[in-house]
Amino acid sequence: MDKLQIEGGVPLRGKIRIGGAKNAALPLMATSLLTDQPIVLENIPKLSDIKTLSGVLMSLGVSVQEPEDKLNTLILQSDHINNVHADYDLVRKMRASILVLGPLVARHGKAEVSLPGGCALGTRPVDLHIKGLERMGAKIILEDGYIRATAPKGGLKGADIAFPLISVTGTENLLMAATLAKGTTHLINAAREPEVIDLADCLIKMGAKISGAGTHTITIEGVPSLKGATHPVLADRIETGTYIAAAGITNGELELTNTTLDTLPTVVSLYEEAGLCFNKTKEGFIVSRKKGIKRLKSVDMITEPYPGFSTDLQAQFMALMSLSEGSSTITETIFENRFMHVAELIRMGADIQIHGSSTTIKGKKELVGAPVMATDLRASACLVLAGLAAKGQTTVSRIYHLDRGYEAMETKLQACGAKIKRIP
Ligand code: UD1
Repeated sequence: MDKLQIEGGVPLRGKIRIGGAKNAALPLMATSLLTDQPIVLENIPKLSDIKTLSGVLMSLGVSVQEPEDKLNTLILQSDHINNVHADYDLVRKMRASILVLGPLVARHGKAEVSLPGGCALGTRPVDLHIKGLERMGAKIILEDGYIRATAPKGGLKGADIAFPLISVTGTENLLMAATLAKGTTHLINAAREPEVIDLADCLIKMGAKISGAGTHTITIEGVPSLKGATHPVLADRIETGTYIAAAGITNGELELTNTTLDTLPTVVSLYEEAGLCFNKTKEGFIVSRKKGIKRLKSVDMITEPYPGFSTDLQAQFMALMSLSEGSSTITETIFENRFMHVAELIRMGADIQIHGSSTTIKGKKELVGAPVMATDLRASACLVLAGLAAKGQTTVSRIYHLDRGYEAMETKLQACGAKIKRIP
């Protein structure tokens, strides 16, 4: 298993190109199940999660091509689905594989998708996906670890579906299913994440009738069939937020290109409060500490659905707060078990206490390099950030987690002066 070895203490300077958003690319890939025509996706990041979903789609008979002359492009076509069974061995690798459920039932009338099971962040049920499809008339049986879903005769029916809590992939799954249902669907208390809007934009290009994406209520008028489309994946706001943190924690200056601050409203305002400043450029923006700021200021943070502070940036924010001046509280409201990076940060000298879903972080003047272990995707990024700022050497093991969601992270950091290398 690869490791990352980091010599900390170098202020990062340079340009980093941000890739397409993993969490937008995954549902966009699943739209290929809704039509027999090609879906061409541009700005696709090279990540292991993308490979995993490609594997699931190919097992269902979708052809997935990466044209050699077009970088970061995938062409997906499902003109002959020969199987509606998404196997446990593929689904267990990535929970987002559940995104094939809605499209399969909507277009093929049937699906058999493995229950994803728990993950490092807790139990993470998919009951809202299932209940939503049931409201649309699907018969669903849970047996042998599988979700077996059958659409009623004549196909899924439009319905009013109110989410008791906001679910991103739940909204996306039902949004896709509703495009081919008979009649009108209202998704109430829907997720407002930019990735949901990106999905709706692509579905509209495919001929779907959708309004309200990005608000709490999405309305979908079902259509009999959808056509192919070409769609560029929006920029990854989590990768962007991670490199903002890299500039902040190393007291460096980075220009992040091919991205925007518009999808990070709360993140930007908290980082500004902590002492960072942002200046827009032609290609993106420059981030650095405000003039004269030696140490960032401690700021309290609570994770929330969009437009609140993303849970996917909580661990990275904590790395910064462990070196800031003062004391801060970070509260995690989305996932039950998302503080696994805390024990590793403590091994590097951080002063953090966990009380249920909150942590108190007393900022230290320095962190000290240590061997640490990545436990999940964003926790891995947090440890890399801590290593970039720590005194001495840090080795982050189990970085296969990192490769799920960050394309060539060490190469991007090296180009900005970081002393970081991958050790096979
Ligand atoms: C998505 C993102 C993930 C991000 C998360 C929250 C993708 C591929 N992944 O995950 O990176 O951290 O949103 O922003 O886009 N829940 C239920 N029942 C359900 C569904 C969810 O109880 O049927 C709960 C979850 O356990 C969690 C909360 O709802 O506590 C939010 O989860 P959800 O928004 O569904 O997360 P994902 O879509 O899996």
